[in-house]
Amino acid sequence: MKKPYFLLALAGFVTVPVHAEITTQQSEVMNKLLATYTEKAKVEFKEEKGRGAISDKPFSAGAGREFYLVRRTWQSKDFTCSGCHTEDPKKEGKHIQTKSPIMPLAPAVNPERFINVQKVEKNFTDHCMDLHDRDCSAYEKGSFITYLKSVK
Ligand code: HEC
Repeated sequence: MKKPYFLLALAGFVTVPVHAEITTQQSEVMNKLLATYTEKAKVEFKEEKGRGAISDKPFSAGAGREFYLVRRTWQSKDFTCSGCHTEDPKKEGKHIQTKSPIMPLAPAVNPERFINVQKVEKNFTDHCMDLHDRDCSAYEKGSFITYLKSVK
């Protein structure tokens, strides 16, 4: 579906380059992560039944977006994933402490995201520890990826 954009660009309707598709490589990495989290979520649900973040429901984009926007208060300051990554994951973010720019998280606009399973897992664990003082559950991670996949 690249051609219509190309033609529109020629016609002068589109002035910025459009990358609005998730690449095959990104799909593969995200699907691999989703398969892992699906298995882990079953185990976590069994072991930790009753704990808030754990669910036996299928991953949902809505739950993923909620997880992305939920505020945690620490030392009377609010922290969220969107604090650094912005409420719209298609936009460029800014680190709340260093103020350095962060390229968008949404794979539909950033072909460099979700191309390496280890990198995603490391970022998940680091940022979840920063924000929640624990690693996020497989349900949270799976739903978050489901949400990002749905962002067009
Ligand atoms: C204090 C700022 C900050 C917060 C808060 C934060 N992140 Fe990040 N995140 C970053 C930075 C910086 C990078 C970029 C590293 C890079 O560009 O390679 C990143 C990258 C990522 C990536 C890597 C994707 C990829 O393949 O490149 C994921 C996934 C991610 N963050 C998820 C989260 C989630 C989920 C939360 C909330 C639990 C969160 N982040 C909160 C700063 C933050």
